[in-house]
Amino acid sequence: MLAPTSSAPVRIDAGRASEVYHQLLAKFHEQGDDPMTVDFRSLFPEVASTERATHNLHPYPAKMLRHIPSFSLAVPELAGPGARVLDPFCGSGTTLVEALVAGNPAVGLDVNPLATLLAKVKSTPVSPRRAHAALASVVAMARQLRRPRVPNRDRLRYWFHPRVLTDLARLRIAVEDVGDPDVRDLLKASLSLLARQVSLADPRVSVPVRLRPERYPEDHRLRAAMSRRLAQLGRLDVLLDFERATRETIARIGRLEGLRAEPIAVYCADARELAAADAPVEPATIDLIVTSPPYLGAQKYIRASSLNLFALDLVDAEGAGELLGRSVGREFFRRDEYAEAQTTGIHEADALIEESRCTNPLRAHLATTYLREMRSAFAGIATRLKPGGAFVLVAGDNQLCDVPFPTSRFLEALAHERGLRTELRVVDAIRSRGLMTRRNHSSASPIAHEHVVVFRR
Ligand SMILES: C[S@@+](CC[C@H](N)C(=O)[O-])C[C@H]1O[C@@H](n2cnc3c(N)ncnc32)[C@H](O)[C@@H]1O
Repeated sequence: MLAPTSSAPVRIDAGRASEVYHQLLAKFHEQGDDPMTVDFRSLFPEVASTERATHNLHPYPAKMLRHIPSFSLAVPELAGPGARVLDPFCGSGTTLVEALVAGNPAVGLDVNPLATLLAKVKSTPVSPRRAHAALASVVAMARQLRRPRVPNRDRLRYWFHPRVLTDLARLRIAVEDVGDPDVRDLLKASLSLLARQVSLADPRVSVPVRLRPERYPEDHRLRAAMSRRLAQLGRLDVLLDFERATRETIARIGRLEGLRAEPIAVYCADARELAAADAPVEPATIDLIVTSPPYLGAQKYIRASSLNLFALDLVDAEGAGELLGRSVGREFFRRDEYAEAQTTGIHEADALIEESRCTNPLRAHLATTYLREMRSAFAGIATRLKPGGAFVLVAGDNQLCDVPFPTSRFLEALAHERGLRTELRVVDAIRSRGLMTRRNHSSASPIAHEHVVVFRR
């Protein structure tokens, strides 16, 4: 059982952050275009704790290294007192949680409703007493429910034992009945966590793949381990497991108590439309943007979230298709969509894309679409910043049909088009981000480093 910690998460000292920032700036000016490597983890070990605030409340693919927003928020030259922060691709909310820890107001956008649920829950303090009371009523109500409606049954029955599926549906209905929206969302996040844990999906991989012990030889270690797990999953008491998972979630949320509650707003919205008149963020109102946009060809946010989205009834099959269509960096296009070559207007990118077109026209189209869509997102990013505001971009490079494709440089070019000026560029090694798949190794990745670029408006 996870114990709530009373001590507030440690913030990086502003004086030290400023000193490090100035050292990096000086080196960057000396070195020019040579990549400058920085290890944020060893520079700021105080941020590393696995139990820092609510970061580990729920898994999410390609979470940002929390040291990056924590450091950016501590540097007075990037975020003065009360600076308003934006993450237009907020995912599960790493930037927003760090903004809460630092005492800054913040806004996050994402198209994935699971991401916005998690980002909101992880950055919203909730009274543990009220959450425990609601948990008791939800479990009591779920025990009473007979023949609950199972959303997306056709999709879900592949992923769950029938009894588990019914229990999850009971819990979902009982959670929907909770009156307090913050407590309700906390319980939904906990149900989402549980859904993946009690599914027949292999826990070692982020995009769901069903456990198939029969694929391994009789004497293989994994065959025995998977068979044991499948047997366990058939005997679960899902309601009891929900109580356990929720107590842990409440303990994690308890760590937010006592933090100065500046408003953190989260919207299910498209970053490509951030420049629109009805976008949720007004022009020139943001002091600091910290974001890690989707990676080209390595992200499967919707597919990795599919079990959770269907079990929580956040989307149906049609909704999931639409969601994929709105996701930047998506990998699926109809043949007629990539029959004709398109260009990005970035000379070097277009030359590399043209080369890859003969061997793999789909990959070529994927890269073009990615840069064109990121151009739309950058239009909003540039206009939402106040003059003098800073934009911290975290991005990886790729291989396009085995040729290096410097995506981070191309994103930099898109920022320059919008009048943003590069102030600093460093490289940090990615240790484990749940991004790599065999396919990406061969065609659109690997991303071994991430580039952190600071722009100034
Ligand atoms: C690298 S992840 C962000 C991870 C996040 N920094 C975290 O720590 O959890 C990129 C995110 O961009 C989101 N995304 C993709 N297309 C989008 C769009 N058009 N508008 C807003 N968000 C989008 C994905 O759903 C995903 O959550």
